[in-house]
Amino acid sequence: MSQLTCQHLSLGYDGREIISNLSFHVDAGDYLCIVGENGSGKSTLMKTLLGLRRPMKGEITTGDGLTANTIGYLPQQTVVQKDFPASVREIVISGFQGRRGLRPFYTRAEKRIALENIKKMGIEHLQNRCYRELSGGQQQRVLLARALCATQKMLLLDEPVAGLDPKVTADMYELIETLNQEEGITIIMISHDIEAALKYATHVLHIGNTIFFGTRRQFIDSKVGRQLYNTKGA
Ligand SMILES: Nc1ncnc2c1ncn2[C@@H]1O[C@H](COP(=O)(O)OP(=O)(O)OP(=O)(O)O)[C@@H](O)[C@H]1O
Ligand SMILES: [Mg+2]
Repeated sequence: MSQLTCQHLSLGYDGREIISNLSFHVDAGDYLCIVGENGSGKSTLMKTLLGLRRPMKGEITTGDGLTANTIGYLPQQTVVQKDFPASVREIVISGFQGRRGLRPFYTRAEKRIALENIKKMGIEHLQNRCYRELSGGQQQRVLLARALCATQKMLLLDEPVAGLDPKVTADMYELIETLNQEEGITIIMISHDIEAALKYATHVLHIGNTIFFGTRRQFIDSKVGRQLYNTKGA
């Protein structure tokens, strides 16, 4: 059974459609990369999958024990977020907020899991530091640890390597790959980096004038795949 199925979705703002008739599905353990031009609606799609927005048309169904509030989310970075005046530990543990409801404190188990996720991301030494004083790569690890607090099943990552240097980018991809391969976490990642998408992804969704959804291999062989990616050696 698929974890997530989208059927004939139309998304947009103020009655204007940005994405029309989008259908795709994601199974447990998949690594889906979403690619497409600036403004094509990738972040809007992610917010809709999280239940933060309603689709104009169509249907999203979840299965396999997944619900919108058990999906981990790493949002696209904004200048405001980069300047957030909270400690690393506070930011990471806030990943539990979706499930906490009105309870005004974190449980001992939540604190333990937050620390485990901080360790997994290799940022234990930074846990008392202020988030806004960290480098871009360190900040993304903090946000990944935060997203992990929300889920054991599925992570939605909106451009997790934007603005990072090549070495830190490679490290970030490795971390995400490990979460997918070793912990079985389903990955849905927005990226402008087609090469990395094709290195790691099992499936590709291209949003634009033409919508493409299929396996990595089907994408490489498709017209849009050939246009976007020089398939030498792939
Ligand atoms: N809150 C909003 N109200 C109205 N229009 C919006 C809103 N948010 C986004 N849009 C518009 O919807 C379109 C899709 O935006 P979205 O952020 O989903 O694109 P994207 O594919 O994530 O782009 P990028 O690659 O630049 O991050 C854009 O034209 C954008 O201007
Ligand atoms: Mg975006």
